[in-house]
Amino acid sequence: MITIIATTNRPNSNTLKVAKYYQKQLKEKGVDANLFSLEHLPADVLNTDMYGKRSEAFQEIQNMINSTGKFLFIMPEYNGSYPGVLKVLIDACNFPDSFYDKKAALVGISSGKYGNIRGVDHFTGVCHYIHLNILPLRLHIPNIKTELDEAGNLHQPDTVKFTNEQIEKFIKF
Ligand SMILES: Cc1cc2nc3c(=O)[nH]c(=O)nc-3n(C[C@H](O)[C@H](O)[C@H](O)COP(=O)(O)O)c2cc1C
Repeated sequence: MITIIATTNRPNSNTLKVAKYYQKQLKEKGVDANLFSLEHLPADVLNTDMYGKRSEAFQEIQNMINSTGKFLFIMPEYNGSYPGVLKVLIDACNFPDSFYDKKAALVGISSGKYGNIRGVDHFTGVCHYIHLNILPLRLHIPNIKTELDEAGNLHQPDTVKFTNEQIEKFIKF
């Protein structure tokens, strides 16, 4: 199973719009992907699901992670890195079996001009540690407000071209 993770819990995030765009593009290529937004982590996850504790709500998320072989992480830039809530997800999941020897692709987005280059690099380091193999083509989409149209689609020709290339490589990965 493929799971796209929209890695912020911010409501109405651009991250979720980009995640839905990737899901649609995969579908057009005949590939079904599950989509999980970190808005749907248990509200009290810090108290209920870390360091050996497990709520029923998080167990469902853990089951979904267990059944996933390939992840696509859409990561907004928050204070020069990826969101802390993504690290909470990784730290709350069972180690090492949740991500070990699985595969992932990474996409950084930002309202500023760097497209979360640093956050994608920081998270790549985490992925190496947990033995999650990363697709070499990592994408960065800066100025996200100018990239999405009213329907939530990426529309700038270069961005469409490079996201399409990444999706095709991700399918073969
Ligand atoms: C807590 C927080 C920190 C942010 N830090 C940065 C930043 O360091 N660089 C940047 O370009 N944009 C930053 N932004 C703006 C996001 O890149 C912007 O909101 C963009 O739409 C992607 O995030 P979203 O998925 O929350 O919409 C920040 C936004 C938030 C909520």
